[in-house]
Amino acid sequence: MAGEFDEIYQRSLTDSAGFWSEAAEAIDWSRKWDDVLDDSNSPFNKWFPGAECNTCYNAVDRHVEAGRGDQNAIIYDSPITGKQRIITYRELQDEVARCAGALRNLGVEKGDRVIIYMPMVPQTAVAMLACARLGAIHSVVFGGFAPNELATRISDARPKAIVAASCGIEPGRIIDYMPIVDEALSLSSHPVPNVIVLQREESPAELKAGRDHDWEDVMGASDAVDCVPVKATDPLYILYTSGTTGEPKGVVRDNGGHMVALKWSMKNIYDTEPGEVYWAASDVGWVVGHSYIVYAPLLHGCTTVLFEGKPVGTPDAGVFWRIISEHKVSTLFTAPTAFRAIKREDPDGKLLNDYDIGSLRTLFLAGERLDPDTLGWAEAHLKVPVIDHWWQTESGWPIASNCIGIEKLPVKPGSPTRAVPGYDVRVLDPSGNEVPRGDMGAICIKLPMPPSCLPTLWNADQRFVESYMAEFSGYYESGDAGYMDDDGYIFVMARTDDIINVAGHRLSTGAMEEVLSDHPDVAECAVIGVDDKLKGQLPLGFLVLNAGVTNDNDAISRDVVKMVRERIGPVAAFKSAIVVDRLPKTRSGKILRGTMASIADNKEYKQPATIDDPAILSEIEVALKSAGYAGK
Ligand code: COA
Ligand code: AMP
Repeated sequence: MAGEFDEIYQRSLTDSAGFWSEAAEAIDWSRKWDDVLDDSNSPFNKWFPGAECNTCYNAVDRHVEAGRGDQNAIIYDSPITGKQRIITYRELQDEVARCAGALRNLGVEKGDRVIIYMPMVPQTAVAMLACARLGAIHSVVFGGFAPNELATRISDARPKAIVAASCGIEPGRIIDYMPIVDEALSLSSHPVPNVIVLQREESPAELKAGRDHDWEDVMGASDAVDCVPVKATDPLYILYTSGTTGEPKGVVRDNGGHMVALKWSMKNIYDTEPGEVYWAASDVGWVVGHSYIVYAPLLHGCTTVLFEGKPVGTPDAGVFWRIISEHKVSTLFTAPTAFRAIKREDPDGKLLNDYDIGSLRTLFLAGERLDPDTLGWAEAHLKVPVIDHWWQTESGWPIASNCIGIEKLPVKPGSPTRAVPGYDVRVLDPSGNEVPRGDMGAICIKLPMPPSCLPTLWNADQRFVESYMAEFSGYYESGDAGYMDDDGYIFVMARTDDIINVAGHRLSTGAMEEVLSDHPDVAECAVIGVDDKLKGQLPLGFLVLNAGVTNDNDAISRDVVKMVRERIGPVAAFKSAIVVDRLPKTRSGKILRGTMASIADNKEYKQPATIDDPAILSEIEVALKSAGYAGK
């Protein structure tokens, strides 16, 4: 007999209009949709065309109207500054409405873009919601990116205003944001007339007269403004993510479909009830932060925890347990790397003895492959179900998960379980045919994808089609490779492109290669991801130098490390580059990065039949061994 999950999953595909229109009843609309889905111009599919709504209204105002005004909306807990602040839904409504007023006073209206360059402080969520309130489109840029990356995003999004903080705080150092904003603006082709600056006492900025406005001043001077109805299909935000080149992809998220999918996920995937405390320990600069620190918990009427700290070192590996016990967290969501960091510092979980984490019902992990060791450790020490789930910036919510709010399926280590309702996941061979169960292939989603998935890339419809839809007609290509077993469990094993995953952060090796090749002594280069016990993967560069270069190899390696940090940012964690004589290639000139990665990780590999000169592989192995890789 089919279980409850099977029934719901089947219905989501055979009666998707019925399924999603029922889910959409949980959202307040100012105008109902004409159609549930318009797929007449696939792959540019539109969910809920004709409908009007406001995401901020659904995330904030309606809870106040429904009597949740005094409930906590945001708990800001910042061990890195020693500060805490609790904001109720009523207070949040007031702050967001005034922030929207401040943005409007600076000329921001529906459809305008606003770049948000802020750390993990509550004002970041306020600014995002204020944009949503006005129908403006926010684009949050992660604090660990360099000015050049911020400039690329400014040039592409062409914002009317920037909202920034004076600084971000990392263990042991303060990062002043305004010099980064200044440099980005000087590099960008698009001038931005207004910057709102949140002054943090840890390092206030000097404001530029005429351009910069103090957050407190503009908030004090502005009137509260009401929610502006937008089309369900209008963009809520653009979130830039790594593509295969240095040019990031501007993933667009709509308003209506996004709300429907996120609200649905809170009960059915996360098994969370309104009023409970939900904590995604990520960063608002990433998709997990957008969806599960800000939008989903608030749409569901939960209390969300905004954590400014690290899993270890702020002050120790017990901080997660402190937060769970102090704020009565029922659901925790983070990346496996956070747990690997905790496990490394406190292998026996001794610090758990200092706290009562009885409120915790479930741990969700995503962002990278969950290794069985980390899964086992978390299960043994937390004594709650540990759920691996797989998703991407492009989807905005899980593609595969154990939907424990519907029915908890058995956990298979190494698998994020089965496709979530709405997603028709198939594993395809290069000709676009489904592979037999158990065989590896490209993990794809049959179109149409469910609500919340990207309708296009910002200003780049053609790139949207070429990046995701061109390889397999009628399917979205996820960029991940893996297999499905006989029970429909999905195993996500590797990327099929030049993306690597460092501490749950998605990075492009192609973008790093672009930086390396700019060094005057470098003739050719390659960047690969090598296995790392803590961060999952770390980037490693290979440099072939121009003939006649007399500079010291180590000095050139140090130069390129510095260049990547300056041009992409510290988050790239690019710390080593090895000088080699030649790079292994196919006869058609393609660099064999996968084979190099296998050698570096000391894994078995098959010598590619198309290799040009097999002797180069031994040279690479020798170079890797002398640099401490390849199982030396
Ligand atoms: N602003 C500026 N710099 C930042 C930054 C930010 N918001 N976030 C990270 N960085 C810097 C770090 O300071 C570090 O710089 P360093 O090279 O000078 O040390 C570098 O970027 C790499 O940071 P990170 O990947 O965080 O590594 P770490 O060694 O500082 O910490 C972990 C390791 C595992 C503790 C950390 O990666 C972590 O907490 N991961 C959680 C995973 C997560 O949140 N993933 C998001 C997707 S769910
Ligand atoms: P991002 O767009 O930054 O969220 O990164 C998405 C990528 O992270 C996916 O395409 C995968 O490569 C990887 N990823 C995310 N979650 C998982 C998971 N549970 N298991 C394996 N890989 C994952």
